[in-house]
Amino acid sequence: MSDQTLNDLFLHQLKDTYFAENAILKAIPTLMDASTSDDLKLALGVHLDETSGQIKRLEEVFGIIGAKPEGVECKAILGIIAEGEEVIEEFAGSEALDAGIIAAAQAVEHYEITRYGTLYAWANQLGLDEAAELLKDTLIEEENTDQILSDLAESSVNEEADQD
Ligand SMILES: [Fe+2]
Ligand SMILES: [Fe+2]
Repeated sequence: MSDQTLNDLFLHQLKDTYFAENAILKAIPTLMDASTSDDLKLALGVHLDETSGQIKRLEEVFGIIGAKPEGVECKAILGIIAEGEEVIEEFAGSEALDAGIIAAAQAVEHYEITRYGTLYAWANQLGLDEAAELLKDTLIEEENTDQILSDLAESSVNEEADQD
């Protein structure tokens, strides 16, 4: 049996999430540029700023456990981002584009919600109270972003996409 512990698992997932957030920080401007709805551009812009803060929080968590901030490649987020880019290419100029962008962005948020939910639970289990608070703050931002995107889709974007 391996002698790896929950501490090791926590650090590994922290690195995975750090890599993912940095990839997301680079991907959001692509989604913003492609969006035709001003409300969608605005929502993505707000979350771009939040994402910078989330990266700083992760760096604080690395500090709390005495580790240096570094990423490990997260194949899942690269796949989710690549799918979003495919949608942008395939639906460029289409009424349905913004609906596709929202769906791609929500896939990112759901990925992050699962990661931060786990990191928060593990930080609590490990007695890392300060880290748990930081992770919870980010978890709430990801959940709020997901809700804002759902509201935007359901209040206008889906209907605009459905023009024929
Ligand atoms: Fe994030
Ligand atoms: Fe996010």
